[in-house]
Amino acid sequence: MGTVTRGTTHPNRLRRMDRWIAAVHGPVLRRAAEPLAVDLGYGAAPWTAVELLVRLRGAAPRTRVVGVEIEPARVAAAARYLRPGLDFRRGGFEVPVPGRPQLIRAANVLRQYEEEQVAGAWARLCARLAPADAAGGDPGGLLVEGTCDEIGRRHVWVALGPEGPRTVTFATRLASLDRPSDLAERLPKALIHRNVPGEPVHAFLRDFDRAWAAAAPFASYGARQRWIRAVRDLAADWPVVDGPRRWRQGEVTVRWEALAPRN
Ligand SMILES: C[S@@+](CC[C@H](N)C(=O)[O-])C[C@H]1O[C@@H](n2cnc3c(N)ncnc32)[C@H](O)[C@@H]1O
Repeated sequence: MGTVTRGTTHPNRLRRMDRWIAAVHGPVLRRAAEPLAVDLGYGAAPWTAVELLVRLRGAAPRTRVVGVEIEPARVAAAARYLRPGLDFRRGGFEVPVPGRPQLIRAANVLRQYEEEQVAGAWARLCARLAPADAAGGDPGGLLVEGTCDEIGRRHVWVALGPEGPRTVTFATRLASLDRPSDLAERLPKALIHRNVPGEPVHAFLRDFDRAWAAAAPFASYGARQRWIRAVRDLAADWPVVDGPRRWRQGEVTVRWEALAPRN
């Protein structure tokens, strides 16, 4: 279910997303009896699926990864990358794997769809996630859907649970950043057309640029210190959900409701 799109990918492109998933979602993967992660739409070569396996196993050693790709020749070409814990299947948003995965990662997939198609794709993918168990304190599976540049210096992704969208994360190589709104060109499909006056994501990036400008004196200690200071200021007005340990990586995560499109 879905449409074949360009297969552009690059080794190590999704390292920032992988690291965030391992840090934030590692406990859920560790607790699962048979932890399963899906790399949906891995592209012309399955490098990102191989890397996801390695990085998730660092956090949860029993994790298995299935790369799911809608284009049959890309599934056939992936066969030579098979290894213990890694499998490939042809398929789309129906996610043809047994059971309910703890993770579905879809990077640079929905950007090639229409904005109106995003809600439907999210709903299908969220319905495939491992359910939450409120009594046991388990938040359930996670869908991570977002976009980055060709070599992974600038990322923005949305994280969704079985119940729907939870957070938006901005992640960047700080040395390459002029201002936080440089990340606007990598907004996921649900937000990229909403970076206009009157929409929350536009106000957020405007405030982030202001906080970044105000933090200019910290640049003499390095871009990381400037980013940490800017995010600390931003958190006075926006629901930032993470802390300095993640900010140090050039990340910030904000509650989805604060950035969600109007209407
Ligand atoms: C631009 S590549 C992204 C590759 C990799 N995820 C990355 O970020 O480097 C997008 C891939 O998603 C695949 N794709 C598009 N829609 C899909 C769907 N509904 N299910 C599975 N794969 C899909 C396309 O065939 C294409 O190979």
